[in-house]
Amino acid sequence: MATEPPLAFLQSRVLLVLLAIASLVLQTVALAQALSLEEASTHDLQLAFRQNNLTSRQLTNFYLNRIRMLNPLLRGVIEVNPDALSQADRADRERKAKPYGSLSALHGIPILLKDNIATKDKMNTTAGSFALLGSVVPRDAGVVARLRRAGAVLLGKASLSEWAHYRSSGAASGWCARSGQGKNPYNLSEDPCGSSSGSAISVAANMGAVSLGTETDGSILCPSSSNSVVGIKPTLGLTSRGGVVPITPRQDTVGPMCRTVADAVDVLDVIVGFDPYDAKATREASKYIPRGGYKQFLKADGLKGKRLGIFKPFFDFSSVSPVAKALESHFNILRKQGAVLVMGLANFSEVYSDSSEGVAMSAEFKLALNAYLRDLAVSPVRSLADVIAFNNRHKHVEKIDEYGQDYFLASQATNGIDKTVKSAWRNMTRLSRDGFEKLMKQNKLDALVTPDSMVTPVLAIGGFPGISVPAGYDEHGVPFGICFGGLRGSEPTLIEIAYGFEQATKVRKPPSFKW
Ligand SMILES: *[C@@H]1O[C@H](CO)[C@@H](O)[C@H](O)[C@H]1NC(C)=O
Ligand SMILES: *[C@@H]1O[C@H](CO)[C@@H](O)[C@H](O)[C@H]1NC(C)=O
Ligand SMILES: *[C@@H]1O[C@H](CO)[C@@H](O)[C@H](O)[C@H]1NC(C)=O
Ligand SMILES: *[C@@H]1O[C@H](CO)[C@@H](O)[C@H](O)[C@H]1NC(C)=O
Ligand SMILES: *[C@@H]1O[C@H](CO)[C@@H](O)[C@H](O)[C@H]1NC(C)=O
Repeated sequence: MATEPPLAFLQSRVLLVLLAIASLVLQTVALAQALSLEEASTHDLQLAFRQNNLTSRQLTNFYLNRIRMLNPLLRGVIEVNPDALSQADRADRERKAKPYGSLSALHGIPILLKDNIATKDKMNTTAGSFALLGSVVPRDAGVVARLRRAGAVLLGKASLSEWAHYRSSGAASGWCARSGQGKNPYNLSEDPCGSSSGSAISVAANMGAVSLGTETDGSILCPSSSNSVVGIKPTLGLTSRGGVVPITPRQDTVGPMCRTVADAVDVLDVIVGFDPYDAKATREASKYIPRGGYKQFLKADGLKGKRLGIFKPFFDFSSVSPVAKALESHFNILRKQGAVLVMGLANFSEVYSDSSEGVAMSAEFKLALNAYLRDLAVSPVRSLADVIAFNNRHKHVEKIDEYGQDYFLASQATNGIDKTVKSAWRNMTRLSRDGFEKLMKQNKLDALVTPDSMVTPVLAIGGFPGISVPAGYDEHGVPFGICFGGLRGSEPTLIEIAYGFEQATKVRKPPSFKW
């Protein structure tokens, strides 16, 4: 695992950061004086566009400069889009030509995409691995097609834990061969969490306005928690997985990672919906999409009357840590805002997954990845076996000796959907039905509240949604979030709760890049 860098190296990195920040300040001071772009929300930005105080080109340049200055240190971005500025120009022209109110909330807004989300343009889609460099995707991912139609500026590809952290159990969070180790901007020596590490790091550090991540189990919720951003892991199928480098279609989801709940909702509104390339799941989940979209659920009094379940074992109130203190005060705020806290939920084993998730995933990954690779227009690798062989030929750059590829090897050794996998599926259906679903219904809960991302396996195996909202900073300055999880299709309720909590607490602050 990671070794301590020598002191001289550390000091030179500190100097580098200071220089980077100083020059960044100089470069952006003119723009910042006119309008504070740091921490600007999509709502602020649209207002500035409309008042002719800002163009999408200026905004895109602001983020490109931030990436140039900060990314050598943070490594949250793998590639920037050579067409970003021309897309911004087009948005600026369209805004002049079209009537006010006819444009989407993301029109002209620069977005970063996790590098496992396909774009059919000059950018590569590689899940962070050299094995996919030079591959050509057949088409944009379903969510990307929607972003383009909405007029968003595709700013670049965000880094990730390579292969969405499904190559090996031993790999570091936030590491991929193509861009190296992503850093937590709040404490550069701490874990950014993954696998959507770059998406979280980048929006936290204002290297993009908004971003997309993906989650199979924890990959949106955990990095959101660790980088003080809001992450929405939607109900399975609410957002298309078409054109996303898969782990398993049984659990994979695409969701927004942004600085505020309102920004995340603006992104969600654009990306949800049917996609012929993920037809079954997106058709089934489209019944959950509310008429008029999700924005209507951004209510300041969203917590009023909500029943929130608290899992005692997840909250350590005996401790005097800043985390325990913050959570205790948040509980009081939740009550003050009119929520009812149901505290008696003590037994986690009843709603927790067993080994079934891992067993099923291992078999499903090989099938799903092989199908993705076969569908590519051009690719140096066409199967999981090819990727494993590639890694063995490029041991050094892919850090095979250090991090291994045990998940890949185990998956390669599986034989399709056999009896064991079917038994695992049955177990997970039973665990969800007798566990989380029963718990929610019996206690008439609107959401289950957990710190950080501890609840993710429960949400993962049932295709349930969750939202992580910034909740504080620990003794090392590392952020932590609070997660609201609910039944399938409960995004409207979760958004009311998350927005109510965010507005009552306002915990997020921009990072200061300390070691
Ligand atoms: C936009 O410009 C106008 C006029 O210069 C100014 O009054 C207003 O405050 C500006 N708005 C923003 C968001 O900067
Ligand atoms: C995509 O990868 C190729 C190397 O194969 C590189 O030349 C190109 O610059 C990459 N695209 C972007 C947008 O960085
Ligand atoms: C928790 O649930 C497990 C599994 O259902 C059960 O065996 C155990 O007795 C329960 N523990 C408590 C404290 O209720
Ligand atoms: C499914 O559950 C049964 C009974 O609890 C257990 O024996 C079996 O090992 C589980 N299957 C898997 C794949 O975990
Ligand atoms: C960052 O974390 C390290 C431990 O990983 C700790 O020693 C250090 O004090 C932290 N820095 C800050 C600024 O809190």
